[in-house]
Amino acid sequence: MDGDRERRLMSQPANPVTPPAERRQQSEAAFHLAHPRYGGTTVLDDLRRSDFARLDAGGHVYLDYTGAGLYADSQLREHLELLRSNVFGNPHSLNPTSAAMTELVDQARAAVLGFFRAAPEEYVAIFTPNATGALRLVGEAYPFHAGDRFLLTFDNHNSVNGIREFARARGAETIYVPSEPRELRVDEELLPRYLTEVGGDHHNLFAYPAQSNFSGVQHPLAWIERAQELGWDVLLDAAAYVPTNRLDLSRWHPDFVALSFYKMFGWPTGVGCLLARREALAKLERPWFSGGTIVAAFVQREWYQSASGAAHFEDGTVNFLNLPAVEIGLRFLDRVGMETIHDRVEALGSGLLDALAALRHTDGAPAAVVYGPRDFGRRGATIPFNFLHPDGRVVDERYVDRVARRHSISLRTGCFCNPGAGEVAFTISRETLVGGEFGEGMTLDHYIDAIGLPSGGAVRASLGLASNLDDLDRFTAFAREFVELDRVPNDLPPRVGC
Ligand SMILES: Cc1ncc(COP(=O)(O)O)c(C=O)c1O
Repeated sequence: MDGDRERRLMSQPANPVTPPAERRQQSEAAFHLAHPRYGGTTVLDDLRRSDFARLDAGGHVYLDYTGAGLYADSQLREHLELLRSNVFGNPHSLNPTSAAMTELVDQARAAVLGFFRAAPEEYVAIFTPNATGALRLVGEAYPFHAGDRFLLTFDNHNSVNGIREFARARGAETIYVPSEPRELRVDEELLPRYLTEVGGDHHNLFAYPAQSNFSGVQHPLAWIERAQELGWDVLLDAAAYVPTNRLDLSRWHPDFVALSFYKMFGWPTGVGCLLARREALAKLERPWFSGGTIVAAFVQREWYQSASGAAHFEDGTVNFLNLPAVEIGLRFLDRVGMETIHDRVEALGSGLLDALAALRHTDGAPAAVVYGPRDFGRRGATIPFNFLHPDGRVVDERYVDRVARRHSISLRTGCFCNPGAGEVAFTISRETLVGGEFGEGMTLDHYIDAIGLPSGGAVRASLGLASNLDDLDRFTAFAREFVELDRVPNDLPPRVGC
């Protein structure tokens, strides 16, 4: 890139100049006309001013809700007030401070079941450190044996992919269901072929995300029942779905559901959940016991008695002081309304897709490529893309990061811990991967060169409950910087991870 252009870009103010009021009004009116349901979400504009004022005070455009949700100020106030005005001890003793805490832990557990409309007779809510902790609980305790199958979609977070290591160690077979290149969905006619290949007398686990953290694709919840009828236990990774969609467990009955609460409402971090059907939970074989998971154990006799229900799966002391914040967060979402949040991100996400589709170089060539669905049916507001140079080459995502920082925009770049979706999006074949081993002493940059990738992944913009039209405008102004960009500077930092 020429030095003048770089200097010009660098000297621009962090917050681009707002278009004249009139033009702004016109474009807002057009947006409302195109997205009539957006008008019903103004409560979120009020909340942006009252509870998320720190975003505008700091000039931030936050577009990484799939990475982490944001908390409302009111959640913190309520949580801190509770901690300040009470004395809480480690739960599960009989003393007064412990009993007070136990009551709140039970209350949080009931709130989780209630929020997801999960009948307590059918489901157990197990608190974990995060969604990964929930997935690991299933992976390490699922009774995989030789002849059993672990079936999963290409499109999965690495915390689901990792379960294949448990399957392999126990002699079970791992099978991947591919996604279709353009839309990054699974061919609905292909899936039954995989689902019907089930070992009759065996344990079979099928895992997929309700919403892709790479492409935003929402894979059908109807697969749950179909797979169960054919003899599969179904593990639904709901981490990227539940922040902006209602998961109704009175309508859908996956055997296991994994999620992280910070993705839903920002605070607290360090708490996730495994929602498990009691029947499915009974099949799990925990590889060890620990404090909290047993009723009794002896040393002189190697015997222990497991605790029942959730306790059997909660190792050690739960994150007890943070659990009341889960109930507070769920109440907050209920007050705002999941449908309102859903309508909001659908309209803004659709606007963001339009902005990227409209981004053109002066000769009319596209200045951005979006991976996955280009319209807003059966998807969430997680949008992966790359900017393109006028000759069609992908703009290095590290430079995109640099420009985004100058605009105070928080985006995600890389492969988003979802290599399968990336392999399909960037049309990387199995042969390429098998040929190009990640050798000793190799850096990620060398590896990317060795297998001939055009960049280190993609850029991901994701929207959430505090997103607004200003964010969209500022994203659009940022995106315009890539029009007619023919080179990036050669001082980009090395890539350290995917
Ligand atoms: C779909 C999906 N599954 C699992 C995870 C893992 O979540 P955590 O890192 O909170 O365990 C993520 C995180 O981004 C995700 O998006």
